[in-house]
Amino acid sequence: MTTVRLNSADPVSIDTDALIVGFRSGPDGPRPATGAEALDAAFNGKLADILDAVTFSGKAGELARLPTLGAIAAPLLVAVGLGESPDAEVLRRAAGAAVRSLAGTARAALALPADTPEEAEAVALGGLLGAYAFTRYRTKGEQRPPVAELTVISGQSEEAARRADVLADSVALVRDLVNTPPSDLSPAQFAEIAEQEAEKAGVSVEVLDDQQLKEAGYGGLVGVGQGSANGPRLVRLSYTHPDATKTLAFVGKGITFDSGGLSLKPAAAMDLMKSDMGGAGAVLGALVGIARLGLPVNAVGYLCLAENLPGGTAQRPSDVLHSYSGKTVEVLNTDAEGRLVLMDGIARAAEDGPDLIVDIATLTGAQIVALGWRTAAVMANDDAVRELIVETAGAAGEGIWAMPLPEELRKGLDSSVADIANVSPERWGGMLTAGIFLKEFVPDGVRWAHIDMAGPAFNKGEAHGYTPRGGTGAITRTLIALAERHESL
Ligand code: BES
Ligand code: MN
Ligand code: ZN
Repeated sequence: MTTVRLNSADPVSIDTDALIVGFRSGPDGPRPATGAEALDAAFNGKLADILDAVTFSGKAGELARLPTLGAIAAPLLVAVGLGESPDAEVLRRAAGAAVRSLAGTARAALALPADTPEEAEAVALGGLLGAYAFTRYRTKGEQRPPVAELTVISGQSEEAARRADVLADSVALVRDLVNTPPSDLSPAQFAEIAEQEAEKAGVSVEVLDDQQLKEAGYGGLVGVGQGSANGPRLVRLSYTHPDATKTLAFVGKGITFDSGGLSLKPAAAMDLMKSDMGGAGAVLGALVGIARLGLPVNAVGYLCLAENLPGGTAQRPSDVLHSYSGKTVEVLNTDAEGRLVLMDGIARAAEDGPDLIVDIATLTGAQIVALGWRTAAVMANDDAVRELIVETAGAAGEGIWAMPLPEELRKGLDSSVADIANVSPERWGGMLTAGIFLKEFVPDGVRWAHIDMAGPAFNKGEAHGYTPRGGTGAITRTLIALAERHESL
């Protein structure tokens, strides 16, 4: 586990194994963004020439490694580009990329702009997120363990480091959950981890098992989970603060593996479906983070956990489910299972009388078609709420884009036997149809937003910035940031 602290040390003399220095790009070439004069003097005024020689220009995210040969105390200097005018996300990504490139090094110090609490937190957070590694299943041991000790050179108070630490721990928890193979993360195992993590953070937990779900009328969770020997669970997490005036409810899709059920998925990309619990992961990570930060808000989180398998007891296309809300649902495609567990979670969350319900889900392939792998979508029954989420995510450095809920898509969900069908014959706009379906389970007068993060939950490609391969922990920080903006709710 990587630690971070703040220290107003001199970058020239700080005792560390590697000094990370941020450089801005400009018409006269790269220049150090902080501590410029002293650093350049240590290199006899030749820093610009040295960087030129290794064709480093300072554009955002660019990296160069330079041996310092005694010019400064640190034996290695890592130059990281910040572009022309770095914002907090540029700092997070630069710190993350630099720290990630230093795997195998014990200690690193970051000399990046950190003159405000926001900047100091961004540098610390980016560094910690970039130091993440998932090694539980490697038998050879790590050849290049992540940097263990980070020092952010900053005169700001240690509070920035503490906040960064809480946020990074929450994201790491979600990444670990997503990366864990589904054989080790059944709904019951996920619920157990949730209990442990919540108790550590001072969040109260209740778990309903398959029998209790059946008795209480959670037809969606039961229907989706019945094809697997590993039965479904509904976890309720609750955090309260004595000064709170607002209650936020988060509902996460927690399909521990999505084979599609009897409407079986093709083999090609089925392995990606271990990430289908990323929404529930984000809700757990957020509740833990909100509690550790002691935010003055009430927050409830629901983890809708089930495994979607085509066992002999699986639900069939044409089965009708009795949802927790009382509405009946004809299951025409068992692969549209996320909306079936969420409809129960949303209806249950509404009973808590929250000021806002936000559901978070790896819900549709159509989200990836529309927005790609790195940008999530938000739909809502309230324009102000939707905009608040877009803005909050943007400030946290997570891309969420506003999407509509066109009413004309509702008729495609008409069922010939039940109140509603779970899929529409209309193929186009599938992400929006899923949103329209969920909206039917939000009681009148309750504000609700739906975040589809099918793409952002998992990084199939190379690591970039502070984002590793595999589970990303996406949207966790946005949910915490939303709780910080409780006054805007
Ligand atoms: N979990 C998938 C959505 C998904 C796809 C997430 C790719 C991440 C990457 C979801 O349960 C699903 O299968 N959705 C179907 C819905 C369809 C049957 C209406 C889809 O998008 O194809
Ligand atoms: Mn599915
Ligand atoms: Zn799914």
